Amino acid sequence: MTRKLFVTTALPYANAPFHIGHMMEYIQADIWVRFQRMVGSEVHFVCADDAHGAPIMIAAEKAGLTPQAFVAQIAAARQQYLAGFHIGFDNWHSTDAPENHELAQDIYRALRKHGLIAERTIEQFYDPVKGMFLPDRYIKGECPKCGAKDQYGDNCENCGAVYAPTDLKHPYSTLSGATPVMKSSEHYFFQLSSSRCVDFLKEWTNTPGRLQPEVLNKIKEWFATDELGHVGLNDWDISRDTPYFGIEIPDAPGKYFYVWLDAPVGYLASLKNLLDRQGAGFDAFMADPDVEQIHFIGKDIITFHTLFWPAMLHFSGRKVPNHIFVHGFLQLSGEKMSKSRGTGISPLKYLELGMNAEWMRYYIATKLSSKVEDIDFNPDDFMARVNSDLVGKYINIASRAAGFLTKRFGGVLSADLGVEGRVLLDGLRAHRADIEVLYEEREFGKALRETLLLADRVNEYVDQNKPWELAKLVGQEAVLHDVCSVCIEAFRLLTIYLKPVLPVLAAQVEAFLRIEPLRFADAARALGAHTIGGYQHLMQRVDAKQLEALLEPAQIELPPPGGEPIAPEIKVDDFAKIDLRIAKIVECSAVEGSTKLLRLTLDVGEGRMRNVFSGIQSAYEPAQLVGKFTVMVANLAPRKMKFGISEGMVLAASHADGKTHEAVDPGLYILEPWPGAKAGMRVR
Ligand code: MSP
Ligand code: ZN
Repeated sequence: MTRKLFVTTALPYANAPFHIGHMMEYIQADIWVRFQRMVGSEVHFVCADDAHGAPIMIAAEKAGLTPQAFVAQIAAARQQYLAGFHIGFDNWHSTDAPENHELAQDIYRALRKHGLIAERTIEQFYDPVKGMFLPDRYIKGECPKCGAKDQYGDNCENCGAVYAPTDLKHPYSTLSGATPVMKSSEHYFFQLSSSRCVDFLKEWTNTPGRLQPEVLNKIKEWFATDELGHVGLNDWDISRDTPYFGIEIPDAPGKYFYVWLDAPVGYLASLKNLLDRQGAGFDAFMADPDVEQIHFIGKDIITFHTLFWPAMLHFSGRKVPNHIFVHGFLQLSGEKMSKSRGTGISPLKYLELGMNAEWMRYYIATKLSSKVEDIDFNPDDFMARVNSDLVGKYINIASRAAGFLTKRFGGVLSADLGVEGRVLLDGLRAHRADIEVLYEEREFGKALRETLLLADRVNEYVDQNKPWELAKLVGQEAVLHDVCSVCIEAFRLLTIYLKPVLPVLAAQVEAFLRIEPLRFADAARALGAHTIGGYQHLMQRVDAKQLEALLEPAQIELPPPGGEPIAPEIKVDDFAKIDLRIAKIVECSAVEGSTKLLRLTLDVGEGRMRNVFSGIQSAYEPAQLVGKFTVMVANLAPRKMKFGISEGMVLAASHADGKTHEAVDPGLYILEPWPGAKAGMRVR
């Protein structure tokens, strides 16, 4: 019976172009899908952009675009990567598409009907200037343990302490700089901790063959009750307050689904969009018990796919995933790839350098297994695998035999092949079942190793029979004909075994051999007295220079001026609220007990003096400043400090990290007006 497969890869966030890790996931899934098609399975292979969430909303705002326009820009660039690496998705959609809005809301309504949605009030940091609740990653402050400045809301990069954002001292919003306030709001929770959910998930996860053993072990830890009797699964907070780029929650004005609720629904939305366009029924397809639903994902998003997603599907009365295939991460020479440090391999640069995408597919495939292991991109290894194995052992078989066949035998193959040749070919055919199993199990590395060992056998046969010598001998035409025909038949068999990995090369081979698209079943037959076309070189070797160019550190992006991006736009009215005045520094002294502050006595023409504390001690001697003019914020609310009341702020320029960038540079520069400016003049 034909297997019906619905296959997806994770939906990439639409806030950045693809990196090589994404391509690895697509290559893995694409190889598996191509294999399935070559053994007759019917496959729907889809993906989409994951468009929603706070980071994308904020990135769009910074770029001066609506989230929709921002996401569309990212989506428009996807195709060149997918086509470039021969990733054969049947559809690419978006989680912001109408199908997804509808499906996500339907699923939510079904969960609510089943009594699995709870409402609870929670308290969270809120940015009063931006008017929004702050995800943890947008809160910074001083580490509660070591006092290091500008630490994120969850842990300190300086001392390694782990804490909650509410523990930070002097917390501030990285979006506006404002001090966040605690504010409560209603949130919606999916009751994952309910016994109904837990029972279902235990059964779903433990179904034999569903998950990889190491994934199952991780999940068992999550289910476990700890020493304090705390039960493993928590309810899942699925709502976010406006403003949010997402899907509205039915009957809850101002509330949106948390991005991870609607993201996997995007799998269904993409499939529905495809089937609708084909005039096929989505509901009927999903109701078909024979359809197997399979998700390829990376190891960082296991919880979402093995707990939340199956439970959402099950309790909304839908088909649940049959398999979640988890892979590890691709690293560069053992190092985690980092975009900020300019390392890593740009997939687009790879293509632009004219490097063959199938080298990459082949190399990655040699590293892939069914395990959740990180895999390493090693440049020397890449050269060796492609040049010595792929080109040296496989491509060479055809190039060694094809010339004689066209020149001496009109391209017609011998049907006899000789005893030795037939034994060799039967040996190759005998491995088909094995190789099929390896592809099925995602043991691509093993499948390729086995195939390359078969190529070794063929090369030994060539070396023993030496067609180049046979060609010189009189009366050996029939033997030469058999030997070269054996090579071509062997090459055809090896091409079948490599085709899931090398689809374009296989198509070239099919054209050269003048045969129909190869499937695994074609290994059972023989070409016989078939006429092949002329041989043209099928694949170049990797040039070390190309690889060098690929790995050259990318042009490091220039840091934004001053080390921080320009703040969000304000209106002229906002600016007018700030009263800036020319101030004369009448007196200046160090503050006893402070290593940072200077006490300034300022005249802003009001007939009285202002007392201002300023954190510029590291940059100026008090005597240097007396008698100078500067600029101050004159209408700032007075602030009570440890050493007294500060009645304003003087303006100074600095780099965002507050650090000195040259040896003699104080890193801090107080503003000074041109000569002629008088105390009390407004700066506007
Ligand atoms: N948007 C979510 C997924 C939602 S699925 C309903 C997401 N996006 S992502 O862009 O961050 O990652 C997409 C996929 O790429 C994930 O499966 C992730 O594991 C994978 N990879 C990210 N970096 C990777 C490597 N360095 N190597 C291999 N895969 C990597 O998560
Ligand atoms: Zn710290």
